[in-house]
Amino acid sequence: MSTHENEQKVPLRSGGPAARIAVIPGDGIGKEVTPEGVKVLRAVAARGKRALEFVEFDWGAEKYLREGVSLPAGAVEMLRDEFDAILFGALGDPRVPSNQHAADILLGLRFKLDLYVNARPVELLHERLTPLRDRTEKDLRIMVVRENTEGLYVGVGGFFKKGTADEIAVQEDVNSRKGVERIIRYAFEYARQNRLKRVCMSDKSNAMTFAHDLWQRVFKEVRQEYAEIESRHLYIDTLAMEMVRDPRQFDVIVTCNLFGDIISDLGAQLAGGLGLAPSGNIHPGRTSLFEPVHGSAPNIAGKGIANPLGSVLAAAMMLEFLEWKAEAATLQAGVKGTLLKNYVTPDLGGDKKTAEVGDWLAEFVARTARD
Ligand code: NAD
Ligand code: IPM
Ligand code: MN
Repeated sequence: MSTHENEQKVPLRSGGPAARIAVIPGDGIGKEVTPEGVKVLRAVAARGKRALEFVEFDWGAEKYLREGVSLPAGAVEMLRDEFDAILFGALGDPRVPSNQHAADILLGLRFKLDLYVNARPVELLHERLTPLRDRTEKDLRIMVVRENTEGLYVGVGGFFKKGTADEIAVQEDVNSRKGVERIIRYAFEYARQNRLKRVCMSDKSNAMTFAHDLWQRVFKEVRQEYAEIESRHLYIDTLAMEMVRDPRQFDVIVTCNLFGDIISDLGAQLAGGLGLAPSGNIHPGRTSLFEPVHGSAPNIAGKGIANPLGSVLAAAMMLEFLEWKAEAATLQAGVKGTLLKNYVTPDLGGDKKTAEVGDWLAEFVARTARD
């Protein structure tokens, strides 16, 4: 994209009259939880002065199996130019064992929209939800900042003598100076803007002596610009252990793509499970994508029992990104309300259906939202 085209782009974001949202439910329970996210967002918009416009896309396993199309031609440009944000469900279907469509669509959008931040908050919303003994809400509030465009995810590598006894498989870990610097800087900026005191960078530089040596050097450099923030480093194995032993010591954690994937599921379980965990795939100032951390959960898909709260909290992150702060807070309050009343799906010990939780939240929003 030339600078000229960039300048001509109509500024839709932040405070405009309407925000345009692309909705990609995807596969499995993505198709069940995403409509609840949209339902609750519609309730928000119905009470506010600003509008939300939704356009749904049927990208996922069905289309891939039917037409051989995963991410359609021109999709990236369309999303970038015509939408403010994307609400995404999940991808993954047992009929596509290679997961090729998920790689094309989800990783494709993360890479091609250059959504270099994967922000995955780990927040305990009710003390009964944590498996940790004697921990309460104040002990667990961490922002995991996962690098989202590089590392072991870039798909550089190959096979040699595939299918033989001498087979070799290579998967390269790609770390650019620019990529490492921008994610570490984002973590410090996030801490500064949210008045958080501590940033922990986690890597495996004792074993990954090239890739994570770069992380070490960049971290030491960038942290000098944030003297008011306490910065520290932990190896990823130690971090996993410390997150369980004493999660209270962390405010912001920044790490590479693969480690961030793993510790965000660990963190999700500490805070009540995957059904509750949201995430934002973000490039500040550009079209960004919001999704629950969980996958398509084929083991419970089609039963109407998937927890929609991860999608609703992802929708709240999306509203924050759009600068609809009060509305985002309303959604968060609503989610806390469902937990307090135990109006929840079976994964959290309740007996409610996915749509019942969504309906309750939509009514909550209708009662409480103010513009
Ligand atoms: P998963 O997150 O789909 O499920 C893991 C476990 O958590 C399952 O027992 C599932 O029932 C439960 N679970 C997840 N979300 C839930 C919810 N909202 N409510 C209640 N229970 C929930 O992980 P998996 O089983 O390893 O992967 C299934 C498929 O999803 C795979 O194809 C995988 O590649 C894909 N996946 C996609 C994404 C994504 O699109 N962002 C993320 C993770 C996994
Ligand atoms: C996630 C998922 C994806 C990832 C998979 C589906 C490629 O696990 O969003 O956490 O590893 O990033
Ligand atoms: Mn994951």
